[in-house]
Amino acid sequence: MSIFSQEKTESNVTLLIIFTTLALIFGGLVEILPLFFQKSTTQPIEGVKPYTPLQLAGRDVYQREGCYNCHSQMIRPFRAETLRYGHYSVAGESVYDHPFQWGSKRTGPDLAREGGRNSDDWHVKHLTNPRSVVPQSNMPAYPWLATNKVDHTTIAAHMKGLRKVGVPYTDEQIAGAEAEVKGKTEMEAVIAYLQGLGLALANK
Ligand code: HEC
Repeated sequence: MSIFSQEKTESNVTLLIIFTTLALIFGGLVEILPLFFQKSTTQPIEGVKPYTPLQLAGRDVYQREGCYNCHSQMIRPFRAETLRYGHYSVAGESVYDHPFQWGSKRTGPDLAREGGRNSDDWHVKHLTNPRSVVPQSNMPAYPWLATNKVDHTTIAAHMKGLRKVGVPYTDEQIAGAEAEVKGKTEMEAVIAYLQGLGLALANK
């Protein structure tokens, strides 16, 4: 019996661990590595732009408030999904998302194509008190967003950090960022973020 016989491998814990690890490493490399080099997963699709400073600030609020605990941002390529939400999500839409907000928990609807679906006024009412526009909603209210001001002092550093991981912000954009968000409320920021979601493929 050779050392590689199935019986020997399965009854020897050390060998089993070694071979399982090798199989996982090989499978992982083959499946995952190419994704880092494929254009379809690393290049933005047409129409996808880096977030404006205000949208970026809104995205921070979205993460701080844990909106992702109830909302995914990835439309699966199934008929029921695309009928409800629109074109399914593609990787080239999220190349500027660090970290991405795909998720799978859907207490509320997917927000990947939320941009333009509701008016700004609707969002103000909804975020202040969801029950005022959707009586049966169990979404929490976020009234403080209307009074909290965006932290304008950190936005430029945030954009510089994103530039390091590949988001093509220019020096001018970074220099002008602070003035762009100064005095804005978190409500305005998060709505700017929501209104920009998924526009590139919205009408496809
Ligand atoms: C506890 C779960 C929960 C959390 C947390 C939550 N939501 Fe919701 N959200 C819902 C539910 C349920 C609905 C559907 C009913 C409604 O429209 O209010 C909804 C609906 C929405 C809609 C309307 C989507 C559409 O087009 O119909 C938006 C926009 C939205 N939420 C944004 C947010 C934002 C922004 C946050 C964080 C500040 C957030 N939600 C946090 C549960 C949640």
